[in-house]
Amino acid sequence: MEASPALSRIGLAGLAVMGQNLALNVAEKGFPISVYNRTTSKVDETIQRAQDEGQLPLFGHYTPREFVLSIKRPRSVVILVKAGSPVDQTIAALSDHMEPGDCIIDGGNEWYENTERRIQEVSNKGLLYLGMGVSGGEEGARNGPSLMPGGSHQAYSNIQDILEKVAAQVEDGPCVTYIGEGGSGNFVKMVHNGIEYGDMQLISEAYDVLKHVGGLSNDELAEIFAEWNRGELESFLIEITSDIFRVKDDLSDGFLVDKILDKTGMKGTGKWTVQQAAELSVAAPTIAASLDCRYLSGLKEERENAAEVLKEAGLKEEVGSLAKGIDKKRLIDDVRQALYASKICSYAQGMNLLRAKSVEKGWNLNFGELARIWKGGCIIRAVFLDRIKKAYQRNPNLASLVVDPEFAREMVQRQAAWRRVVGLAISAGISTPGMCASLAYFDTYRRARLPANLVQAQRDLFGAHTYERIDRPGSFHTEWKKSAQKINAGVGALN
Ligand SMILES: *[C@@H]1O[C@H](CO)[C@@H](O)[C@H](O)[C@H]1NC(C)=O
Repeated sequence: MEASPALSRIGLAGLAVMGQNLALNVAEKGFPISVYNRTTSKVDETIQRAQDEGQLPLFGHYTPREFVLSIKRPRSVVILVKAGSPVDQTIAALSDHMEPGDCIIDGGNEWYENTERRIQEVSNKGLLYLGMGVSGGEEGARNGPSLMPGGSHQAYSNIQDILEKVAAQVEDGPCVTYIGEGGSGNFVKMVHNGIEYGDMQLISEAYDVLKHVGGLSNDELAEIFAEWNRGELESFLIEITSDIFRVKDDLSDGFLVDKILDKTGMKGTGKWTVQQAAELSVAAPTIAASLDCRYLSGLKEERENAAEVLKEAGLKEEVGSLAKGIDKKRLIDDVRQALYASKICSYAQGMNLLRAKSVEKGWNLNFGELARIWKGGCIIRAVFLDRIKKAYQRNPNLASLVVDPEFAREMVQRQAAWRRVVGLAISAGISTPGMCASLAYFDTYRRARLPANLVQAQRDLFGAHTYERIDRPGSFHTEWKKSAQKINAGVGALN
């Protein structure tokens, strides 16, 4: 289709695979869409796909002007280009032809402050703006992603009907909701990705323990993960993990998973999550541990060298002797429970980070709704998110998922298994930083009294930072050294 017969409902610029798939998804839902990319072959490719996939109402354009003018007013233009300056360039090229009331929707993994800057910039031209997190990868974009739009509420209303059709559908509605003002949509997507880091790390630790302590083969692992996917852990990541263990290598013998270099890549959203947690004084140790593990995984050569050096220094692998006496069935069941409990703590951290930001920015985030729109389409989609939704529905001001009565009961039921797995892993010398971080988070958060009194005493001793007391109000300072010297002198005299 060369020229559109009528004006399109919406436009999309940036036709890499994600963009093409999202455009086809929109067209398939019956909304005529205009598409544009500077590289004309991308436009042709998309038109071809729209034809092949059933004469979908998709119209290609080759100049920004022609593209913008082909869209019905008020115009909504989704851009899906690399985050950062490509977004600014695309906005510049398109906004020249746009009119007051029109809207730009950035669907990339953008830093939320860039979105807030752009909201200001385009408002000078009377344009509206949305920063919309899109999760689900290429497959999700085509068949139903989870969408996290934040920014202008008016702009959201203009395309709400489209977004609700395009998003993944779960039993309690489409996986999209208006997130809040400003860069909230990007921020929520960023934390989603941080949680995703945590989930993947925890799963990889479960794998490590089952493989090295339990001695499970890839076939057994595939079975176990498939079984877990029929219970409380049912989720996209558990499901694909099961699939991964089944794939044979087509370049040599054995399973493909065993041939993959143990170095994890990353694109930055996990790092941003941990940075934001630190900025907001929110503890997010499980997510931080996942990030640290990616960094350490990158040091492949150093790790190989360290393994050599420590072996020469006399370090023995404890795994072999431990594995002999292991009750496989029990280990598998324990690891399942440890994984589940660790996951609850990781989500508690992510949710609390979101809450701290929501308070700081006045976003008024609805955590039950966030859990709901993550139930489908996105990478962390899981049955268990329905429980989180319900926990926040029961109590929108929940201090932590850990103290929701249902989750609290589940954690208590699982803690013996959780401690056994972590203890066993530590004895075996198999690092489980995510599970350990979650357990330490749980054990720190649940204790009414911590050794922080000693840290306060130290701070008061060397810096006169003062301390509070448990038995009376006010702030106190003590001449610790003088008091200690007096006592030492007394003790000396006694001797
Ligand atoms: C068009 O395609 C190229 C190459 O695939 C990409 O780098 C560019 O950002 C795309 N987007 C736009 C709006 O031109």
